[in-house]
Amino acid sequence: MENILEVKDLCKTYIVNKRQINVLRNVSFTVAKGEMVAIMGPSGSGKSTLLYSVSGMDRMTAGEVLFNGKSLSGMSENELSRVRIEDMGFIFQQMYMMKNLSVLDNIILPAVKSKKIKESRKKTVERGQELMRRLGIIEVAGNDINEVSGGQLQRACICRSMINCPEMLFADEPTGALNRSSSDEVMDELVKLNSGGTSIMLVTHDAKVAARCSRVLFIVDGNIKGEYNINREEPLRTRERSLNNWLMEMGW
Ligand SMILES: Nc1ncnc2c1ncn2[C@@H]1O[C@H](COP(=O)(O)OP(=O)(O)OP(=O)(O)O)[C@@H](O)[C@H]1O
Ligand SMILES: [Mg+2]
Repeated sequence: MENILEVKDLCKTYIVNKRQINVLRNVSFTVAKGEMVAIMGPSGSGKSTLLYSVSGMDRMTAGEVLFNGKSLSGMSENELSRVRIEDMGFIFQQMYMMKNLSVLDNIILPAVKSKKIKESRKKTVERGQELMRRLGIIEVAGNDINEVSGGQLQRACICRSMINCPEMLFADEPTGALNRSSSDEVMDELVKLNSGGTSIMLVTHDAKVAARCSRVLFIVDGNIKGEYNINREEPLRTRERSLNNWLMEMGW
């Protein structure tokens, strides 16, 4: 199977008060096209940092990341931003929506900015509305971004990340702000998207969420401590049970 992502000896160091903090230490792994990978691990272990580095949100200190065989650090700013708008989708809590636009306009913004998507504005709006309907937030389409709840905002982020039909989706705790049933609904959508061919890499603290992925990477102190393949043919409960046993072994 072809890889969509190849990460080789990735290092990320922050300098805080003249002190070096080595957050990622020689992390290497690959994601095959169509995979759905969960990143788990203790708070502060480097999960978000890893997601930002491999998705080109943040420059790495050393190492290499290949997206579809092309090195991210070899790309110009323009090329990188094109790849990020057209080929990648992002669900990051700290990624702000535009305050002067409605929820729907925020959702369709990446499509409006993309050169890949050639369709009328009417069609784009319809696709945006359809996504909002699927995620159960169509009633807030016309609201300002500060007139929605945290959970609705999170779903709006998901709609926005899907509007350009990305090849790969990166999500940092996509269900973090949601209760169990909303979380299950969001995961239903992500799993559907993944079945349609979109590769997904997500960070989660929730074993129920990870059990719906195809593989789990467990990070401790900026290193991959273990890796677990999930058999998605098995019933969800069986997957959850075996994953929980493995997580216990990992010291979760
Ligand atoms: N911009 C930054 N400058 C300095 N240190 C940072 C920066 N961002 C993160 N760190 C540090 O890097 C380490 C890893 O942070 P990161 O956010 O990747 O952890 P995480 O695994 O996502 O944790 P959580 O589960 O709490 O979200 C932490 O010690 C954090 O304090
Ligand atoms: Mg984090």
